[in-house]
Amino acid sequence: DFRGQITLDGPSGTGKSSVARAAATRLGAAYLDTGAMYRAATVAVLDAGADPEDAAAVATVVAAARIEVGTAADTEVVRVDGVDVAVRIRGAEVTRAVSAVSAVPAVRRRLVDQQRALVAAADAVVVEGRDIGTVVLPDATLKIYLTAAPEARAQRRAAQLGISDPAEVAALAVDLRRRDQYDSSRADSPLRPAADAVIVDSTELDREGVVDRVVELARSAV
Ligand code: C5P
Repeated sequence: DFRGQITLDGPSGTGKSSVARAAATRLGAAYLDTGAMYRAATVAVLDAGADPEDAAAVATVVAAARIEVGTAADTEVVRVDGVDVAVRIRGAEVTRAVSAVSAVPAVRRRLVDQQRALVAAADAVVVEGRDIGTVVLPDATLKIYLTAAPEARAQRRAAQLGISDPAEVAALAVDLRRRDQYDSSRADSPLRPAADAVIVDSTELDREGVVDRVVELARSAV
């Protein structure tokens, strides 16, 4: 059986979450969605009426919020101060504000501490995010950076949301690009592959193909 830590980083729309969940299930590993934690922090900011661009206000709200996420690959548990926000964190309002909230260093420090504690409790775990291989778990057993061509990512996200109107798909592509640019250019923990990450390009692969590749890499890493 696989024991250790697998990091899965990359931009949005690469199919990262479904790949991470499926790989964790096949490897009998726990699963941690760190994006869900930044999204939950964003719910706390919005509910407090704070401006997501006001770093000091964001830091104050997030320091006081209790953020809980589950680590089972087959169920999604996300709570803010005891309230279930699993559905709300996927909404457009949260998606629009999350990059600004996650660029605040105090927010990152707090959530990274929590991520490391959750990971330490598991013998085997798949952790997905943007900075897991570079910052959160620099000594992970296996690091994967998942990429895909921008058009493929927009198409995939559109299919996920049930959108087919070309104008809406184009708007989605613009939003993906905006979020990736924000995430890649922020000063604290920007999105980039770790020096020792295996780059997996999912443009030409279906989900099963990517999961097979991850599981294969995991089995040969131990
Ligand atoms: O993966 P997901 O799209 O849910 O992530 C939402 C946002 O959370 C990202 O666009 C990024 O701004 C932030 N994030 C981050 N670091 C992580 C995971 C997510 O900054 N490890």
